[in-house]
Parts: sequence; C-alpha cells; structure tokens
Amino acid sequence: MAAMPLKSRRSKKAISLPRREGPYLIDWMKPADVRQVIRLEQDSFPEPLSLRELIRLWRQPITRYIVIRKGRRVAAYIGFQLLGPAAHTISMCVHPEFRRRGLAALVQTTANEVAAALGARWFTGEVRVSNTPQLNFLKGLGWEQIGVSPHFFKNGEDAVVVWFWLN
Ligand SMILES: CC(C)(COP(=O)(O)OP(=O)(O)OC[C@H]1O[C@@H](n2cnc3c(N)ncnc32)[C@H](O)[C@@H]1OP(=O)(O)O)[C@@H](O)C(=O)NCCC(=O)NCCS
Repeated sequence: MAAMPLKSRRSKKAISLPRREGPYLIDWMKPADVRQVIRLEQDSFPEPLSLRELIRLWRQPITRYIVIRKGRRVAAYIGFQLLGPAAHTISMCVHPEFRRRGLAALVQTTANEVAAALGARWFTGEVRVSNTPQLNFLKGLGWEQIGVSPHFFKNGEDAVVVWFWLN
C-alpha cells in the first residue's frame, strides 16, 4: 500500500504514514515485510496465520496492516479490519528482541488514529485467557474486558473480548 494521508471524517485530522519515531519508522506493511510478519506469527501464536491467509486478508479493502521497522527489521506489527463503526484486530505482535519498550503501545495508538480517521468509533478484539501480557498491555491503555467468548480459539481456549472507545 502506498504512503497516503487519511482525513478523519470526524476530527478532520490528517494521518500520514510513514512517520518516524526515534530510531523507528511507522509505516504501512510492504511486500518486503511479509516474510518477517509470518515468522513472528509462527514464533508467537499457537494458531498463526499462514502466508496464504495473510495475503488473502491483506488484499481485502477493509484491512490495514501497520508495521514498525528498525532499519529493515520488523519490530512490531498490527493487522486490523474496519467493519462499519468497529475496528477489529486480526493480530498484533512485537518481536521478542523489542519487547517492553513501548512498541505495542506505539503500534496500537497508531492503529487507533488510522481507524478513527477512517470512521471507526471503537476498537475490539479477542485475547486468549492465558495471554496475560496482552491483557495487561490493553488494560494499561484503558481497554475494557467486556466478556468471555467460550471456546473461541481453534484449540478450544476461551477468549476475553476486549473493547476500546476511540475519541
Ligand atoms: C503482548 C505484547 C504485544 C506486548 O508488547 P510490548 O511491546 O512488550 O508491550 P509494551 O512494552 O508496550 O508493554 C506495555 C505493558 O504491557 C504489559 N506487559 C507486556 N509484556 C508483559 C509480560 N510479559 N507480562 C506481563 N505484562 C506485560 C505491561 O503492563 C507493560 O507495561 P510495563 O512494561 O510498564 O510493565 C508482546 O508481548 C507480544 O508480541 N506477545 C506475543 C504476541 C501476542 O500475544 N499478541 C497479542 C495477541 S493478538
């Protein structure tokens, strides 16, 4: 996806990527990032996206993927879809070597801005009940836990449904 400014329907605030943040570049995912994203999926999730599934989702007009790069390395990414007023997380991940430096917060708040600029009113997602790091992280950003979806994941694990109002 090419660099492009997005104009918010509500705030009229322009969102422009790529954007530099210290040693990091926040950008739309590019074809050259995809292999690293797939590797992070495989290393971090019990049920990672396959390359084919990632490409299928990425090609949908409702999908956005944002990466944070240091040089050519993908340090973090988030994929989400815009479903009317809802932005829904596909997955997000920070490379193990880059964790506990605030990159999850940086990629999520960028996604919030992009989603709001495209007309979303809230962000939502499902997190494994066992995923304490992600649940803590989202709680710290002010996300609410609004319920549990039993056996949501393919391996039967329950999901905590999480929710955040976009301003
Ligand atoms: C969850 C994850 C995204 C957090 O990324 P991160 O960049 O390390 O997070 P941040 O540095 O922004 O941390 C923010 C807060 O999250 C919480 N947190 C992060 N890692 C944690 C851990 N291992 N245990 C407990 N809390 C944790 C803490 O409250 C932390 O604040 P602190 O560092 O001041 O204590 C990262 O661990 C990850 O990629 N995990 C694997 C993929 C995954 O589970 N993705 C989510 C499901 S889609």
